[in-house]
Amino acid sequence: MHREILFPTPVYFKMVKDPQKMNDYLFPLIKAWSEKEESIQKTNVGGGWHSSTEMYHKKEYKPLTDELFIMQHEIFKDYGMEPKPGLGAMWANINYPGSYNKQHIHSNSQWTGVYYVKVPKNSGNLFVEDPRVGPLYILPRRVQGIPKALWSLVSCPAVEGQMIMFPAWLPHGVELNESKEKGEKGWRVSVSFNFIQV
Ligand SMILES: [Fe+2]
Repeated sequence: MHREILFPTPVYFKMVKDPQKMNDYLFPLIKAWSEKEESIQKTNVGGGWHSSTEMYHKKEYKPLTDELFIMQHEIFKDYGMEPKPGLGAMWANINYPGSYNKQHIHSNSQWTGVYYVKVPKNSGNLFVEDPRVGPLYILPRRVQGIPKALWSLVSCPAVEGQMIMFPAWLPHGVELNESKEKGEKGWRVSVSFNFIQV
């Protein structure tokens, strides 16, 4: 017999060129922004800070925006899309200990994702869930150790300096920040974005 995998759900991972340099540059900017602007309320629960969504218009974040576009162009090529990607929204998140992001999708976008600026130990991973209703209605009994492609929920370890991009219709969320670190050492800092097709 042979097998074909149909209707796949791609999740892409890529490190920025110089993670240390990028994050040493981004953290103070985002921290200062969070101190002068009130959080908006989206999927953030438990007091996490969510910036406004025009981050891609701010020149100081261009080093990260450039990296996001490089990866997005690679995805357009891999996924057979043309002509080109555009950013529809981009924002920063600070999940303080005790906060998380409830499960959601990003409407009216092609690709969404996250970049990790600061990830203390036990500060929560991204999780993605099988978007198909059928396989969730009938969950067969299975042996241990089935391939990840057959799981119904996958936790993606958060890695500083890494970008993750996936289809905007894929249900996802962020686990609870359970860091025991005090002050900003316990902050989980990330940047999220929505890519559209222009
Ligand atoms: Fe999201």
